[in-house]
Amino acid sequence: MSNVVNYEILENIGVISVNNPPVNALAQVVREGILNAVNVAQGDASQALVLYCEGRTFIAGADITEFGKPPKEPGLPEVLLALENSSKPVIAAIHGTALGGGFEVALACHYRCAVAAAKVGLPEVKLGLLPGAGGTQRVPRLTGVEAALAMITSGNPVPASKAHAMGLVDEIIADADLKSGAVNYAQELVVSGASLKRIRDITIDPASIEPGFFDNARKKLALRARGQIAQDKIVSCLEAAVNLPMDEGLKRERELFRELLVSPESAAMRHIFFAERQAAKIKDLPRDTPVRDIEKVAIIGGGTMGGGIAMCFANMGIPVVMLEINDEALQRGLDIVRKNYTITVKKGKLPEDQMEQRIGMITGTTDYADIADVDLVIEAVFENLELKKEIFTRLDAVCKSGAILATNTSYQDVDAIAAVTDRPEDVLGMHFFSPANVMKLLEVVRGAKTADDVLATAMKIGKAIGKVCALSRVCYGFIGNRMLSGYGREAQMLLLDGCTPAQVDSTLENFGMAMGPLAMSDLAGLDVGYKARQSRGDLSDDPKLFRMGTVLVEMGRHGQKTGSGYYQYDPATRARNSDPEVEALIKAEADKLGIEQRDISAEEIIARCFYPLINEAALILEEGIAQRPSDIDVVYVFGYAFPVARGGPMHYADQIGLKSVYDKICEFRDRYGEDYWKLAPLLQKLAEEDSTFAQWAAENS
Ligand code: 3HC
Ligand code: NAI
Repeated sequence: MSNVVNYEILENIGVISVNNPPVNALAQVVREGILNAVNVAQGDASQALVLYCEGRTFIAGADITEFGKPPKEPGLPEVLLALENSSKPVIAAIHGTALGGGFEVALACHYRCAVAAAKVGLPEVKLGLLPGAGGTQRVPRLTGVEAALAMITSGNPVPASKAHAMGLVDEIIADADLKSGAVNYAQELVVSGASLKRIRDITIDPASIEPGFFDNARKKLALRARGQIAQDKIVSCLEAAVNLPMDEGLKRERELFRELLVSPESAAMRHIFFAERQAAKIKDLPRDTPVRDIEKVAIIGGGTMGGGIAMCFANMGIPVVMLEINDEALQRGLDIVRKNYTITVKKGKLPEDQMEQRIGMITGTTDYADIADVDLVIEAVFENLELKKEIFTRLDAVCKSGAILATNTSYQDVDAIAAVTDRPEDVLGMHFFSPANVMKLLEVVRGAKTADDVLATAMKIGKAIGKVCALSRVCYGFIGNRMLSGYGREAQMLLLDGCTPAQVDSTLENFGMAMGPLAMSDLAGLDVGYKARQSRGDLSDDPKLFRMGTVLVEMGRHGQKTGSGYYQYDPATRARNSDPEVEALIKAEADKLGIEQRDISAEEIIARCFYPLINEAALILEEGIAQRPSDIDVVYVFGYAFPVARGGPMHYADQIGLKSVYDKICEFRDRYGEDYWKLAPLLQKLAEEDSTFAQWAAENS
């Protein structure tokens, strides 16, 4: 028997223990170990078997690192069949998270018991997959098809108490020691003569499914998870669970699982799974770098960002002091927080009493003396360097020694801000994304003098408040916003060249972006970009540059807030509608500039908008602003809603081939000039070597 799976008999119960840290993933040795143990147990004195896991969790799924490699025997279905066909009852004992293939192992057992804090789930869809070892066939037999659909298409885990109510878990174990609790439960089952409860023996009555149920599900999912092909196949599996005998349903599920396993969507989503975890690691910081305690936080500025950031900490039970410029602004800030929570309560996502509890965690002040004792300050005032410097001078004077001083600036120089203090080592950027209580990304910006423990603390607290952290060095716009500039520029240039706003946006939305760039500008307010451009001295005076954005703002069309921008907005529904007036205006501006408009293909729109991102990212890598290409993918997927099924801009570029990206950029450079299309030397080098960003990362890790 392998070292990672142990088998022992405790009294009359055979206990199979899996020990494959960190998450007991179903690597080949685990599959083999369980299979051997079940076989041995068939001929020994045990009367029932308990399947138990050491460490922090029950089996958390198939070993994702094995995907894409040649399969190794025994396969998971074989192991599950052995468990299901055991002549003695098998009881899965669950703690931590029983996920994916791990939960499917538990479902092949005859009984499932769990500690109250455990969770079970089928998260395969988040990896572009579907449960490939019976999950889609067994769950609906226990819960009904509707609940199974919700669980499998969301991929979200279910707490043990809910799983118990749904019939997925038979017993909640109250004992502090799960192993002995599970053995006791197994003994009770033996004494009561409990049968071998096989989920496969349950049938679902097709008449219980409303006509059109599956078609409706497909339509809804196509809208919700654009470009994610797994959702549709999950519906097919559930249809099979209703209409086919178990073994045929399992066969269908396996076929569809295999199709997904080799799909580019799943490869991209698995890339993001590992990229997210990798991004949390700072290359030159040991894992055991000490961290500072964060027990109280101050937020300076209670506007759009300050309010959302305050909520992130309050949600985790960390007290927050919001400091504003005067009582009126403070009240406005606190009101925004209350309004946001009220919306969450109305959506049924937060009980009302918890809302009051969370709001109670946030107090307000206009007096710096009230923030002298906080452990972390996050400044979120207007985007103005002089103002930020003024505030950091005051923070330096008032905050206790050891407090971390962070700025949420989008563009400003973190080193210049740190330089006004006597403690630049305690200063860094913590760049949240709007809405800050919702968006997952946190760019942690490392100043030239930021201390290691300050960085480690920021990454840790970021994770604790539910963010995905990615490290950036200091530059204008850091990783994400710096790359975005070419994307926005080309979206506008395309208008002058002959596209309509709807054509640009819908092409990028079909690509998978949640919202096209022009509609997004309308949402954020066209005046925001306009003002930002005015405050920059380094922009070219080319009249084509951001032309339509400027013209629209000067006409008073600031986007959704004024009812019109690139589009007209329905005042009641906020639905966007194409506006012939804008289309005529674009044509007139193009004429004025002597631009001959033409038909533009979807391929060109995609290349014009995304290739500047990729080119800028190559510069960012060369300059050491980002640690690795996969960090850039994390920034774009979690901060800019780049489609996860494309894996982020770097992964996407590798898939197209860097030579092809390079050739296209050369073509655009020859057509539009080097000012806008200046090739990044790294991109050129990798293209000439027929290499990829991933290969470069492996060589530079
Ligand atoms: N396979 C391989 N490695 C895995 C893994 C898996 N299924 N799950 C986690 N890991 C690795 C992580 O990459 C990480 O490695 P690192 O330390 O080198 O970065 C380490 O385990 C710890 O993971 P986390 O940092 O994510 O630890 P947390 O405690 O925060 O979370 C978890 C634990 C909730 C289990 C989370 O890791 C998770 O969600 N894992 C993925 C679960 C999953 O998707 N399972 C389904 C797999 S597909 C499948 O089962 C197909 C089947 O239907 C046939
Ligand atoms: P905002 O205009 O909504 O809020 C700024 C707040 O700061 C106002 O409530 C104002 O009263 C307050 N303030 C101004 N001077 C102050 C002072 N001296 N002391 C205390 N409070 C003061 O601005 P927003 O959008 O919240 O942006 C704040 C910062 O976050 C900026 O640096 C911005 O670049 C950055 N940011 C903004 C994002 C966005 O999408 N809005 C996204 C990420 C970062």
